[in-house]
Amino acid sequence: MRMAQRIGLPDDGERLLDDLETLAGLVDDSLPGWTRSALTDLDVDGRHWVLARMREAGLDAHIDAAGNVIGVLAGNGSGRGRIMTGSHTDTVLSGGRFDGNVGVASALEVARSLRASGTTLAHDLVVIDFFNEEVNPHGLSCVGSRALTGALTPAHLAARNQEGTAFGDALGGARVDPNRMHEAAMDLSDVIAYVELHVEQGPNLEAQGTQIGLVTDITGVAPFRSLFTGRQDHAGTTPMSVRRDAGCAAAGTVLAVETIASEQETSRGTSGSITFTPDAVNVINETAEVWGEFRSPDGEWIAHARERLAQAAEAEGAKRGVGVELEWLPSEEPVPMSEPLLGIAGEVVADLGLSHSRLYSGAGHDAAFMALQVPTAMVFVPSQGGRSHCPEEFTESADILAGAEVLLNTIVEISVRHAVR
Ligand code: GLV
Ligand code: MN
Ligand code: MN
Repeated sequence: MRMAQRIGLPDDGERLLDDLETLAGLVDDSLPGWTRSALTDLDVDGRHWVLARMREAGLDAHIDAAGNVIGVLAGNGSGRGRIMTGSHTDTVLSGGRFDGNVGVASALEVARSLRASGTTLAHDLVVIDFFNEEVNPHGLSCVGSRALTGALTPAHLAARNQEGTAFGDALGGARVDPNRMHEAAMDLSDVIAYVELHVEQGPNLEAQGTQIGLVTDITGVAPFRSLFTGRQDHAGTTPMSVRRDAGCAAAGTVLAVETIASEQETSRGTSGSITFTPDAVNVINETAEVWGEFRSPDGEWIAHARERLAQAAEAEGAKRGVGVELEWLPSEEPVPMSEPLLGIAGEVVADLGLSHSRLYSGAGHDAAFMALQVPTAMVFVPSQGGRSHCPEEFTESADILAGAEVLLNTIVEISVRHAVR
């Protein structure tokens, strides 16, 4: 079998680390950690910065109708089809500076390293910064990758935030026209691989002492929104027996999420957002809204968890005379990664003298949407203490550079193996 020459990063990867530093500066300073939420001006600035960096690197770049930044490094035309790589640059509120950003900056560095080393791939390389990967206030994630893969529907655009605004009406903040978003759907039939580098965001690589993670599957995610409607009353004069306390029904449901998700080693359940109204110490809440999610690599377990939560929320409401609405938001099925691509990445990792483990991703990724249509692989680098979606998220520079080198050489190897002989 033909094998590609291994390539290193020029400048010892300094330019890649500089790019991460610059992205880390384009954030909301009024919040702890790093915040560049989708649907904000900062996110628009971030994506325009990526666009400019792609152009400087010699890519033919544009922002598509769904806000994805896409740059193409032309191959020599001897291979049929395209290879894609990228991630996202939006962040959660007060998150870390590496989640997503490492994959975008490294994808860009892959293109620059190819040019610097005088390597022209047999295939066009498409570098992408996907719009709005993190869950937005409308309960939607992976918006850009859904749009690119043709999975974005009118139901997504109608999804409401807590103020009742439809997602489509909030897209102006991202300079995205909801009426044109469907134009971002790409014919991916010629894409031979999508490879994404990401920080692990969990503790496994550190615990196993390995430098690289090769992802076997990406979790399924089932987000929900629940609304409990009771009766507003005086906190001091209303006897406990006659209260219709929406907050207490919500609290029981939050605990049910924890109980249900504790059933299995790999299952997860989180109630990440709770709003009590009127939200005052001496008033019984009339309404309580809870947004949360279940995750698991087992789609059947997710279906079972949904049923159990519906029963639990009904029971919590019924015992207090509180009305319950439980709405399941667009969900994602667990998705396996491409075994042949994992094999190639594993060989590259070994060749570079790095250690690796195979692991399952409990975090959601744009790769999950890409994997529904094209052979997809994800490469992880360690997260210190397993921390992520928090300001403490940290990955050593040496680990980022090792991951970028794996990404670069995996892409080269895929191209060589798919070249027309
Ligand atoms: C994405 O970061 C997710 O897993 O929520
Ligand atoms: Mn994230
Ligand atoms: Mn991410």
